[in-house]
Amino acid sequence: MTELKNDSFLRALAKEPVDSTPVWMMRQAGRYLPEYKATRAKAGSFMDLCKNADMACEVTLQPLERYPLDAAILFSDILTIPDAMGLGLTFETGEGPRFSNPVRTEADVNKLFVPDPEGELQYVMNAVRTIRRELNGRVPLIGFSGSPWTLATYMVEGSGTKEYAHVKGMMFDRPDLMHKLLDTTAQSVTSYLNAQIKAGAQTVMIFDTWGGVLTPRDYKEFSLRYMQQIIDGLIRENDGRKVPVMLFTKGGGQWLEDMAATGCDGLGIDWTQDIGEARKRVGDKVALQGNMDPSILYASPERIREEVKTILATYGEGSGHIFNLGHGIHQHVNPEHAGAFIAAVKEFSPQYHK
Ligand code: CP3
Repeated sequence: MTELKNDSFLRALAKEPVDSTPVWMMRQAGRYLPEYKATRAKAGSFMDLCKNADMACEVTLQPLERYPLDAAILFSDILTIPDAMGLGLTFETGEGPRFSNPVRTEADVNKLFVPDPEGELQYVMNAVRTIRRELNGRVPLIGFSGSPWTLATYMVEGSGTKEYAHVKGMMFDRPDLMHKLLDTTAQSVTSYLNAQIKAGAQTVMIFDTWGGVLTPRDYKEFSLRYMQQIIDGLIRENDGRKVPVMLFTKGGGQWLEDMAATGCDGLGIDWTQDIGEARKRVGDKVALQGNMDPSILYASPERIREEVKTILATYGEGSGHIFNLGHGIHQHVNPEHAGAFIAAVKEFSPQYHK
């Protein structure tokens, strides 16, 4: 495989010295970019875009053409696994994801199976292979999946939710069923991420977007436990290089120590945490990724630059920090403001790496 020309993202994850703090943005390929909207319109639907390896590759590379980013992330979605399980995924414009066959009963749970990553999900692996080829060693490629709990919220609710009525209903009244669903999903995520690694993903990230809505007890029993199961089953070295794993629980700031103890290499943190405090809490165990409030990108470029300086100073000297937003970039952000953010990280971070 081609040598990596810019490996600062992987070096920071390993806490090895870097010249400047590497940076990328969650959801960096997306609707805030006019060129994304154009390709998306050509593709027809969002899932058609995900299923076309050349178009998925094109939108993955779009933000890298605009900004000096230090990592690329596979263009796909976390809901590909439940779709492959037969739940019937659609994305209606402005409405978010919807499943035509949500998982509500014991019979529904019993029908779930572990999809073949080179079968039902081969389009994702084809996208990974195409992107790796086209990146040609420019920056590392991040593969990803949702956490079992986060996937379960969509699978049981059938859409996004504010109340978690069905998914928490199942968790409280039928914990046995919920554990069965989560176990099948964890097995699916493990084989899916391992296939992404074999196809060329150089690091993998698990998005636990909804872990933060659980009590500390339930977080450990229904979310963290299954992320641990995945980490224990992942390929950790490929092509002569370590394959780091990152965990991100939105709203999970109180559990950083527990997450660090899973044996992952990095933790994504949202903007509700002080990154300096987080660094003290996890010590040398893991690298940290984050954690600028994505809404800062609505402010002026001057204000954005100030925020970048503050976060760099709060993390302090040395490696182990990957600059990112604390959650995905919003669709109405001005792309020039995103550019000001990336440029500020490049301008102000070298002084912390002397
Ligand atoms: O970061 C990247 O550039 C890679 C692509 C990526 C997408 N989704 C593309 C996408 C990634 C990493 C995801 C992950 C994802 N998807 C998560 C976890 C991360 C997070 O944000 O918490 C979640 C919860 C989903 C589920 C999902 N997919 C939702 C809720 C939506 C609707 C969002 C909305 O604002 O309407 C999606 C659709 C989606 N996934 C879009 C993109 C670019 C927008 C769809 C479109 O173009 O119409």
